[in-house]
Amino acid sequence: MQIAVLGTGYVGLSTGVCLAEIGHNVYCIDIDERKIELLRQGISPIYEPGLDELLQKNIQNGRLFFTTSYEEGIKNREVIIIAVGTPQSEDGSADLSYIKKAVCDLSSYLKDDVIIAVKSTVPVGTNDELYQLLKDRCNKNIRVDLVSNPEFLRQGSAIHDTLHADRIVIGAKSEEAAAKMKEMYLPLQVPIIQTDIRSAEMIKYASNAFLAMKISYINEIANLCEVLGANVNDVAKGMGMDKRIGGAFLHAGIGYGGSCFPKDVKALLHTAKSHHVDFAILKETVAVNERQRRLLVKKAVSRFGDLRGKKFALFGLAFKPNTDDMREAPSIIISKLLTELGAKVTAYDPVATENAKKILGDSISYAQSAYEAARDANALFVVTEWPEFQQLDVKALLDVMKQPIIFDGRNIFDLETLNSSLKAYQGFEYYPVGKRA
Ligand code: UGA
Repeated sequence: MQIAVLGTGYVGLSTGVCLAEIGHNVYCIDIDERKIELLRQGISPIYEPGLDELLQKNIQNGRLFFTTSYEEGIKNREVIIIAVGTPQSEDGSADLSYIKKAVCDLSSYLKDDVIIAVKSTVPVGTNDELYQLLKDRCNKNIRVDLVSNPEFLRQGSAIHDTLHADRIVIGAKSEEAAAKMKEMYLPLQVPIIQTDIRSAEMIKYASNAFLAMKISYINEIANLCEVLGANVNDVAKGMGMDKRIGGAFLHAGIGYGGSCFPKDVKALLHTAKSHHVDFAILKETVAVNERQRRLLVKKAVSRFGDLRGKKFALFGLAFKPNTDDMREAPSIIISKLLTELGAKVTAYDPVATENAKKILGDSISYAQSAYEAARDANALFVVTEWPEFQQLDVKALLDVMKQPIIFDGRNIFDLETLNSSLKAYQGFEYYPVGKRA
C-alpha cells in the first residue's frame, strides 16, 4: 500500500520504518529539514535499538522515503498516518496546536480519496474536531475518512513493540476505512480491536493511566514493605502470578517518567475535571509518583543528615534504560534537590548525557564511566536500571568510593549475591526500595 506518515518522532519513525519493513511504500514527512536530511542518509536522530538497521535496509529496498514536502509525501497515498506531538500545556491539558496545524496544512494537498489515521495521543472527542477541520477545508469531490489508531509502543523497544504489538486499536465510523486499515496491518498478524472513534481515543488514555496507577500502587506497597520487613520483589512476583493482575509493570522504584505517562495522566485528569468527574484514584497516582521521585534524597538525608559538602554519584540519567530521553526523568528532580541541599553530584549515563546537559547544564558534573562517577563519592544512587550497571564489579566500585554506600532506586542488585560477596566489606550499606538489606 501507499502510505504517508506525518511526523518523524518516536512513534512516526518507528511506524514508518516498520510499515516499510512489512512491504508497504512509505513516505515520512517532517518540517524539520535537518532531521529529514539525516534520515535520508539512513541516520536516525533518536536512539532506538534496531531502528538504524531497518531504516537503512528499507531505504535501500526503495520502500522508505523522507521529505519535508507535503505535496510530494501525500500525493497518491491511500493512508496518511498522523504522528505529531501533543505535548502538555500549562494547565495539564494536551496541546493540540501541532496536530490541528498538521491537519490544516495537509488538507489543501489532498487530491484523491484517502484515510487519515490519527496515531497521536489526543483527548476523547479530538478526532471529531479534526474531521470537521478536514471537511471544511478539503475538496468536496474526494472522500476523506478519519480513523483513530492509537499507538502503544514503548521507547527503547519501539521496533519490537510495533512488529509484535499485543493489539491494534482501530476506531472508525466507516467499515471501508476500518477494512483498509486492517489490510495495512495484516502482515503483522496482530489481534485487532475495532471500536467507535471515541472509545479508541479512550483506550489509549485508560491504558497509560492504568499502567501509571499500577506503578504508583506497587511503589506504595514497596514503601509499606520496607517498614514492615517484607520484600517487594517477592510480593510483586506473588501478585503477578495471578493472571488477573499480571506481573508486568510491578517493578517498584523511584516513579514513572518519560514523555507519555506523566503527560497522559494529567491530560486525562484535565478531561475528567472539565466534565466535573472527580477521578480521585488518578490524582493520587500523580501525588504518589511525585513523592516517589524524592525517595532517594529523603533516604540520603535520613542517613547523612546534612548533605553539604557530600559527593554523590548518579548512575543513570535517562527516564528509563535503552533511551536517551530525559523528559520527566527522576534524575532531574534528584539532581536539583541534592544540589540545593549543598551536595556535589557526578552522573554517568551510557547515552543520555548530552540530552541531560541541555536540562541540568553545569549544575552537576558528567563522568565517562560508572567508576569515574563513583570516585570519592559518599554514596551512589542507582537512578536508571541500565543493564551495564548490573554487570559492574560492585567490590571494585566500592573501592573507589569514599564511603561504601548504595541507594538503589531500581533494585538492580540481588540482595543475596551482594550480601554473600560483600559480607567482609567494612561498613557497606545498601538501601534498596521496598525491602531491607
Ligand atoms: C508508555 C507505554 O508503556 C506505551 O504503551 C505507550 O505507547 C507510551 O507510553 C506512549 O504513550 O507513547 P514509555 O513511556 O516509552 O511507554 O515507557 P514505559 O516502558 O512504559 O515506562 C514508563 C515509565 O514507567 C518509566 O519511567 C519506567 O521506569 C516506569 N516503570 C515501568 C516503573 O517504574 N515500573 C515498572 O514496572 C514499569
